[in-house]
Amino acid sequence: MSEKRTIRIGLLGFGVVGQGVWKNIENNRQALELRLGAQLDITEVVVKNLSRERDVEVPAERYSDDPARVIENPDIDIVCELMGGTGEALEHTRRALELGKIVVTANKALICEHGEELFAIARRTGGHYFYEASVAGGIPIIKTIREALVANRFKLIFGILNGTSNYILTRMEREGLSFDETLGDARKLGYVEADEALDLDGIDAAHKAVILAYLAHGKWVKLNEIICEGIRDVSGEDITIAGQLGYKVKLLAVIARDFEAEKLSVRLHPALISKKEVIAGVDEVYNGVSVTGDVVGTTVLIGRGAGQDATSSSVISDIADAVFMLQGAPAPFISEEDEAVYNRLAAGLELADASDLQGRYYLRIHVKDQEGVLAKISNILAEHHISFATVNQKELDDGSALIMVTTHKSNELSIAAAKAALAKEPVVLGKPVSLRIFDPEAV
Ligand code: HSE
Repeated sequence: MSEKRTIRIGLLGFGVVGQGVWKNIENNRQALELRLGAQLDITEVVVKNLSRERDVEVPAERYSDDPARVIENPDIDIVCELMGGTGEALEHTRRALELGKIVVTANKALICEHGEELFAIARRTGGHYFYEASVAGGIPIIKTIREALVANRFKLIFGILNGTSNYILTRMEREGLSFDETLGDARKLGYVEADEALDLDGIDAAHKAVILAYLAHGKWVKLNEIICEGIRDVSGEDITIAGQLGYKVKLLAVIARDFEAEKLSVRLHPALISKKEVIAGVDEVYNGVSVTGDVVGTTVLIGRGAGQDATSSSVISDIADAVFMLQGAPAPFISEEDEAVYNRLAAGLELADASDLQGRYYLRIHVKDQEGVLAKISNILAEHHISFATVNQKELDDGSALIMVTTHKSNELSIAAAKAALAKEPVVLGKPVSLRIFDPEAV
């Protein structure tokens, strides 16, 4: 039997995910190396703080605080950037790809903000950029769209891409807790990112939606061009009323392409979704992605969207693809070889704007509990051609009330204008809140 090739891996960053990669390669080394036909050697581990205690045991000589020992080292076959962020990680990824290296990453922010540049470098130099772990943790959504479902054109991809906000919404629903109470627990459990806005304002999930939009449609979309709203405005009352009407409230990423109008809608916002939808049943820290292709129909993937083991499972899957490639297999995706192919996928495709978005809405309006209030609200909605589907009212202890309505089909511009008009009405207290009602059949 011929000697197996040794593949040398360098890790940039050794936090939760990096240690997971080390631990899980060690734990499953025998089976993994049999499957890959190669030996794996994590030769270099670059950290910022050499004296920090870590949960896995790594021989001291492999540690350093010098990224050049990975990036500039001709013996390193695969660079794993597991530092996160868009500062040093960008600099190191750029340099490694300039050198024609294979880079594996879990860094969604970096790909979302700099993917276009980084993939272009990889194409120019013959480097490769693998990113399965950047979207939905352990769910193999990148490989699924890129390879398993390659026969399809994707009318709709939607789902839950942020585990932390899903955890918060699930506990609010199940235990009747407020957003703030649940957020406290999520912080204690270490679920919330150090920059909380990433989770709570939808930015993390929007990064992932942008990556999926590129993968499925070849178009890079900028975060400031899309609707990106988090879960901070969702209240217990919204979840309760939604439940009574047959809906759950979920933070949804939506990537919808109208192939006739050649419009692509990429958005991230909380929404009411029918309990009958599989994605509505994805609770706690889980992620779920529903992919509708014109050939295969709808396929739903559910799994752990974050955490050490799930994320490292995806990083190791990319390492495995890189190992096959290093042993002569072709690159597993065409975009690396031919930029023109991806550019053609997006030819003529325009980004949809708010005026293209239509559907049903939920509105919560805080009002003084007085005679004629409902009539005033009804008049304002009618002036904006918005028709009630359901109305609920909740009396509050302070003599005010919440009016919660769902509407028949309307659109973003009418809802925004109606909310602005309602906010000016003296009987309305504070700003009205709206949530979209998402119906996958009506996209
Ligand atoms: N903050 C992210 C989440 C981590 O909650 O899903 C995984 O990307």
